[in-house]
Amino acid sequence: MPYDVNLNFVFRFPTKIIFGPGAAKEVGMEVEELKGTKALIVTDRDLVKTDLVKIVRDALGAKCVGTFSDVTPDTGVHIVNAGSEYGAALGADTLISVGGGSAIDTAKGMAICLTKGGRLEDHAGLNILDGPVMPHIVIPTTAGTGSEVTYAAVIKDHEQKRKLLFADNYLIPNVAILDPNMTIGMPKGLTAATGMDALSHCIEAIHSMQSEPIADALAFHGIRMIREFLPRAVENGGDIIARGQMLIAATIAGAAFSNAQVGMVHALAHCIGARFGVPHGIANSILLPHCILYNLDACPDRYSRIAEAMGKELRGMDLLKAAEQAAIAMWEFTKAIGMPQTLREVNVEESGLEQCANDALMDGAIVYNPKPIFDPAEILKVYQKAF
Ligand SMILES: [Fe+2]
Repeated sequence: MPYDVNLNFVFRFPTKIIFGPGAAKEVGMEVEELKGTKALIVTDRDLVKTDLVKIVRDALGAKCVGTFSDVTPDTGVHIVNAGSEYGAALGADTLISVGGGSAIDTAKGMAICLTKGGRLEDHAGLNILDGPVMPHIVIPTTAGTGSEVTYAAVIKDHEQKRKLLFADNYLIPNVAILDPNMTIGMPKGLTAATGMDALSHCIEAIHSMQSEPIADALAFHGIRMIREFLPRAVENGGDIIARGQMLIAATIAGAAFSNAQVGMVHALAHCIGARFGVPHGIANSILLPHCILYNLDACPDRYSRIAEAMGKELRGMDLLKAAEQAAIAMWEFTKAIGMPQTLREVNVEESGLEQCANDALMDGAIVYNPKPIFDPAEILKVYQKAF
């Protein structure tokens, strides 16, 4: 069945990808290629105690001028500012983020401050930069965020309890080193949640108002890879093939949504995350099937193809029924990998949903949702179903 296509689009994917078990050891050569001599590692408080950071530090040798390890989950403006001051004092000229989305986004924020000067809060917004920022090499230790190839950083203003978006093509990292050995130690719950973030990126790229064929190609293949390899990675963390394929799936999902954008799943999840501290992948995972059902009649052809990619048998079904199978596939898949199914289970308070609905309407992602939303009451209904 045909579906609507966008007649005008731009696809950008400038990040160099290096993949393979042990590839993290090549980081020194990548710094050299970027003409760097003083690399600063940006990582979190837990990872800095592990061998993962040591591997990167050893590989950098004399090129490493320091390690900033104060990143927390849901990184904050104050953390980025502290890291930037530290990096400036050391004269750092290259950033190496080692970690999940929080460490990567911290380094993106630091790249802005270390290049442009000032504090991070002076630079929030879209298309904020007028030129390249400090080179950034990413070594992900989770497989989900896609931030290793995206132009955006989400950094929390902890005082205001809101997430600030920094978005500019100059923030796209120069290099992503995808080394499955770096994700082997990820616990089951984090593996499942971050993998569901990647699956949300694929589905949102496909249903986005700005979807286009190149992003579609990546996103549909991403869905098939995640369907096959996420359960394996959750089941057996030491499965190096599954770990590697999930890293690739997360990266291509990142490339897809960085170009095609995301929609209401992310808009609603951002607000639940900001207000109740629900981890991003978990919030996405719970909201995903409810948002598919809300959007169902806006692009049933797309959802039926998603259902197909998830392995659903659609023969004999009419289009809407086939599309509905995408939501059903999400529930089956998330149950199988042990994800929470309701917002209630993850300590969201029902009384806070109305405010979240108002906030979600202001989130930048909502404008790309396939079904236009102007009334927060519509969003509240979706939250209540997910509650
Ligand atoms: Fe996401």
